[in-house]
Amino acid sequence: MAASKRVLLIISGGIAAYKCLELIRRLTDADIAVRCIMTKAAERFVTPLSVGALSRDTVYSDLFSLKDESEMGHIRLSREADLVVVAPATADIIAKMAAGLADDLATTTLVATDKPVLIAPAMNVAMWKHPATQRNIAQLREDGIALIGPETGELADGEYGTGRMSEPDAILQAIESRLGGPKVIGRDRFVGPGTALKGRRAIVTAGPTHEAIDPVRFIANRSSGKQGYAIAAALALAGAETILVTGPTDLAAPDGVTVVPVESARDMLAASTDSLPADIAICVAAVADWRVENETGAKLKKGATPPELKLIPNPDILAILAASRTRPALVIGFAAETERVVENAAEKRVRKGCDWMVANDVSPGTGTFGGDRNQVHLITADGAESWPSMSKTEVAEWLVARIVRTLGRKEDSTPGHGPTQIAGS
Ligand code: PMT
Repeated sequence: MAASKRVLLIISGGIAAYKCLELIRRLTDADIAVRCIMTKAAERFVTPLSVGALSRDTVYSDLFSLKDESEMGHIRLSREADLVVVAPATADIIAKMAAGLADDLATTTLVATDKPVLIAPAMNVAMWKHPATQRNIAQLREDGIALIGPETGELADGEYGTGRMSEPDAILQAIESRLGGPKVIGRDRFVGPGTALKGRRAIVTAGPTHEAIDPVRFIANRSSGKQGYAIAAALALAGAETILVTGPTDLAAPDGVTVVPVESARDMLAASTDSLPADIAICVAAVADWRVENETGAKLKKGATPPELKLIPNPDILAILAASRTRPALVIGFAAETERVVENAAEKRVRKGCDWMVANDVSPGTGTFGGDRNQVHLITADGAESWPSMSKTEVAEWLVARIVRTLGRKEDSTPGHGPTQIAGS
């Protein structure tokens, strides 16, 4: 059966190029045709032979090759695909794209294309943080180019930080979402990009909070923000106007999301209530339950005895949003538990007044805090449902699919269609 969608995959020269072989396999398994362009540097990392064998197509690399041009000119190459994907996108190709350079087949094709472009950056952490790269990324976003990743973690060179290319699974999902077409997830339906939650506004809290002890020290926790950012990205992809109120993280802003960076629980509360009214609120942040009452304006001096910190409770953002006068139609919390996971989370759902509670086990060894995967239980007034272990991106997609099914389309909830029914509200 001929594939119904076509991706032009541009592989540039970074160590992460090896992940493209897996990506090509995943794409063809998903019935998406892949045609590949490799830069000269990419050919140093993976061979055109492997890429051609997996994509079952000619691999193009030379702008000045009479054979390549007569077989498939670069204009046709750039126009015949439904989506152009650059993976890995090195600092070099990102800089060239931002400047509109066209000095080889890959960059000429990128300048010539009239199709949407998705890039998966991959580089060393210092290169990613470099002001020139950040300037180029901002330019690409402004030009309408979508990004997936980079992720934070151990990099190929042994350093730790942001710069790792997203996993083939996550790139495949980003590609499928952009190619559109309904995607069936479990019992739910994830409708293509930009449609299902159009007209809805969502607030997501993510990451840790930092509670100051003095100007240089703070109390924090192990949240990376990955789960919350993935949810914000999935909501935006489904068309919701999405505000991400985030504590300090190393993560790049998800595409199409308004990011409000905050430090403390009180800042997070203010930014969240300022973002009301909204249709959906999802509190994924690991908010510090306490803050230091006697925070000092000057750095604490090391004396003979350690200072005594008096802790006082922080406001509960989730409970406040759930009780607010302009309560969102759907308020969802996340419960981080280490024992009686479902039972404790179910109690929390009732105590905090939210509609759904997503419970996850954060015991040592689970990798839930900071890792890329999660195994959650969705708890509503109707009971608990356990989802399989999956990537945090998939958890986000399943959750958004469930939200779509529950809230329905905006136009369907206009007068005449009856009120929106939410389990547990
Ligand atoms: O960020 P990652 O590394 O990807 O990890 C994801 C995660 C483990 C942080 C996430 O999946 C998660 O479980 N988030 C909730 C963490 C938490 O604070 O759980 P809790 O059981 O203490 O709080 C329950 C709910 O109340 C949460 O929705 C929390 O955001 C909210 N809360 C808690 C305290 C407070 N002062 N204000 C709140 O809004």
